[in-house]
Amino acid sequence: MQTAVKMGHNVTGAQMSPKDSEAQLKATREVPPDVPGGPEKLALVRTREAAKADSIGSVPVPGSAKGMLKTAVNKLVGVSPEVLIDKLGERLAFERGGVRLYDALLAKAKAIDTLDKAMLQTLQHFRQEEAEHLGLVTAAMEKLGADPTAMTPCADVAGCINMGVMETIADPRTSLAQCLNALLTAELSDNAGWELLIDLANASGQGDIADSFGKALQQEQVHMQTVKEWLSQEVLGQV
Ligand SMILES: [Fe+2]
Repeated sequence: MQTAVKMGHNVTGAQMSPKDSEAQLKATREVPPDVPGGPEKLALVRTREAAKADSIGSVPVPGSAKGMLKTAVNKLVGVSPEVLIDKLGERLAFERGGVRLYDALLAKAKAIDTLDKAMLQTLQHFRQEEAEHLGLVTAAMEKLGADPTAMTPCADVAGCINMGVMETIADPRTSLAQCLNALLTAELSDNAGWELLIDLANASGQGDIADSFGKALQQEQVHMQTVKEWLSQEVLGQV
């Protein structure tokens, strides 16, 4: 596999053929878009659709009697447990996705003959930690009586956001640096996600759950910093 950027026969830019670019510009004037209207019309339609759209999903009612009781108790003190359950569901989806990202990158990394063995071991270690975080969030949801197998609205959104990251890493043609760039996007978001989740658990009166997430946040900070350094070394090493 290619590990460095190379010059090649790339004809995507206008500089390669000014004559064709002229023809292309002419075509944009002569062939109208399938849906009439420009960016203003598109914005209007988007606003109209957003105003009438239903939500992307809902947080399921806790299935267990214990969970329902906890939900009711928290409601009485003015806390909305569904916000915490939704965000726990998001973290669960994200960490599950994280395991898959590392699996995909590990498979690709094995195709690089020159890859540092220590890096492979660290990738494996990070993958294991993502899997452990999955268990941590599952335990927190069960403690609240929530169903960790249900997809919450924010879990759905997290899965959608991460599609591009997964697609980048799973593409056989992408280089290690390009994959690390994608992974950094996920790890940056993951760090911010854990920070917010800890604040939210505290604000929801779930200090024990917040405390149980402290180690995960520390591990995620190491993931982010390490991936950032790997990316830097990989790109600068090509110069
Ligand atoms: Fe991570």
